[in-house]
Amino acid sequence: MQNPFRATAGAPPPQVIGRIGVLDEFDYGLTLGSGAPSLLTIFTGARGIGKTVMLGEAGAVAESHGWVVISETATAGFMGRIGAQMQRHLQELGEGPARRRITGVSAAGFSITTQLPPEQQVGWRETGEALLRLLASNGTGLVVAVDEIHAADRAEISQLAAVIQHFITDSLPIGMLFAGLPAAVSDLLNEGVATFLRRADRIDLHAVAVGEVERSFAELFAQGGFEVSSALLTQAAAATDGYPFLIQLVGYFLWREAEKSSGVVDQAATTNAITAALRRNERVVLEAALSTASGRDVDFLCAMAQDEGSSIIGDVAERTGMSPSAASNYRRRLIEEGLIQPAGYGRVAFAIPGLRQHMRAAQ
Ligand SMILES: Nc1ncnc2c1ncn2[C@@H]1O[C@H](COP(=O)(O)OP(=O)(O)OP(=O)(O)O)[C@@H](O)[C@H]1O
Ligand SMILES: [Mg+2]
Repeated sequence: MQNPFRATAGAPPPQVIGRIGVLDEFDYGLTLGSGAPSLLTIFTGARGIGKTVMLGEAGAVAESHGWVVISETATAGFMGRIGAQMQRHLQELGEGPARRRITGVSAAGFSITTQLPPEQQVGWRETGEALLRLLASNGTGLVVAVDEIHAADRAEISQLAAVIQHFITDSLPIGMLFAGLPAAVSDLLNEGVATFLRRADRIDLHAVAVGEVERSFAELFAQGGFEVSSALLTQAAAATDGYPFLIQLVGYFLWREAEKSSGVVDQAATTNAITAALRRNERVVLEAALSTASGRDVDFLCAMAQDEGSSIIGDVAERTGMSPSAASNYRRRLIEEGLIQPAGYGRVAFAIPGLRQHMRAAQ
């Protein structure tokens, strides 16, 4: 058996840990069809928490019900790309009697570089409607998943919102799933460009229970034919803090160690694996996340790192010598960057595991 762990952004993990409840809810929504609450969902959460994986899993559930799934990332031109995919599905499914009705629409073509010009907006809506009516007649529907919604062009989002709203009003079987960084998604919702998104079910993904990580490790290593004592599995699971990206890293390096050994993993091998995983997390996640941070941002983070849990903004201001308004500016910037998150009134906490230790070591 090959190393099953996948420590890469968006890569499907060998076991999707701790998300069954959310997926069940979505599954139920599909059986209800048009207008079910879970068919309009926004997944938010820190980097590496598993948002893209959730979109993929939900898409797979939809496909298992025979629904068509279109997945896009919200970079410029995503409306056009979704439109082109809808056209393709319509053509594929439209063989037979429905075909003649739809060719006029499907000949339109969509620009894929910018927001859609007015005539293409009409085409998009018509294509979508034709596809949805066709799917509805088969008792299925369409799920559109849009990742990295925080980076979306506001004009494109409001176009998308307007058409989707229309489909929902018409009781057409459409599901919309979005994913993005929490603070940026909040901003997007507050700007009012897509008011219907405020009614979406917002699911903030968190780290998963360490006990579930341990159970998953035990299963996977047993499948690989490796012997790892439960004490060592507990250690390895604890080192992940339940953070999905770290789960994959620790699992990956522990598997490598197991391959090097003669099948029995000892303490030294476990320690090596954990160290390698934390180091990789630091290089891949933390340094990338910090790459846009200014000197004062770093001062703010270092001041936070003096605390064990969350930090009081007033304390951070005092430690860094910032005025309250400067501190509140840096707070906002760092939240937008996904480095910290609000943690109750006047408090903030690190949003990425290992960041505190990293900032301490940097001092
Ligand atoms: N429920 C889960 N159980 C185990 N591993 C998971 C789970 N969800 C995601 N992962 C793993 O965690 C890593 C990060 O997942 P993903 O890319 O979906 O995160 P993300 O929230 O989209 O991150 P980003 O904000 O950087 O886009 C991947 O290696 C993935 O395989
Ligand atoms: Mg992602």
